[in-house]
Amino acid sequence: MYNERKTELGKIAADMRRMSYIPYSHYAVGAALLTKSGKIYTGCNIENAAYPVSICAERTAIFKAVSEGEKDFAAIAIATEDGLGYPCGSCRQVMSEFSSNMDILLADAEGNITVETSISELLPGAFTPDKLLSR
Ligand code: THU
Repeated sequence: MYNERKTELGKIAADMRRMSYIPYSHYAVGAALLTKSGKIYTGCNIENAAYPVSICAERTAIFKAVSEGEKDFAAIAIATEDGLGYPCGSCRQVMSEFSSNMDILLADAEGNITVETSISELLPGAFTPDKLLSR
C-alpha cells in the first residue's frame, strides 16, 4: 500500500512543477505531501520580485495541510528536473516541527523516485517543539 502511494506521490509532485511561479530562477519544484490520515496536499514554489518573500514547494504543501487541520505527515515527494533537489534548510526545519520521522522522496521530472531518505537523516539534532512545550 505505502509503495503504491510513493509512486503516486512522485507523479503528483512532478505534475505540480507545472504550477510553479518561477520568473526569476526558472527552477521548477513540485511537492506532494501525504498525511498519516491518507490525504495528499500539493505545493509548488512561488517566487516574488522581492526575492526573500518567495516560498518553496515543500512549505507551500505543508502550510496548505496545516491550514486545513492536518499536522501528522507520513511522507513528502519533491520533484525537480534532475531528481536531486534536496529540501532547503528552512523546509527541513518546518518538516521537523510537525513530523520528526517523515519520509522524504526525491523525484525527477517524470515522477520517478530517485532518492528515499527521511527528515531525521537530513536534519539530525533538529531544534524541536519539545524544547519549548515541556517548560
Ligand atoms: N526551492 C524549493 O521550492 N524547494 C527547495 O527545497 C529548494 C529551493 C525553490 C525556491 C526558489 O523558487 C527556487 O527553488 C530557487 O531557489
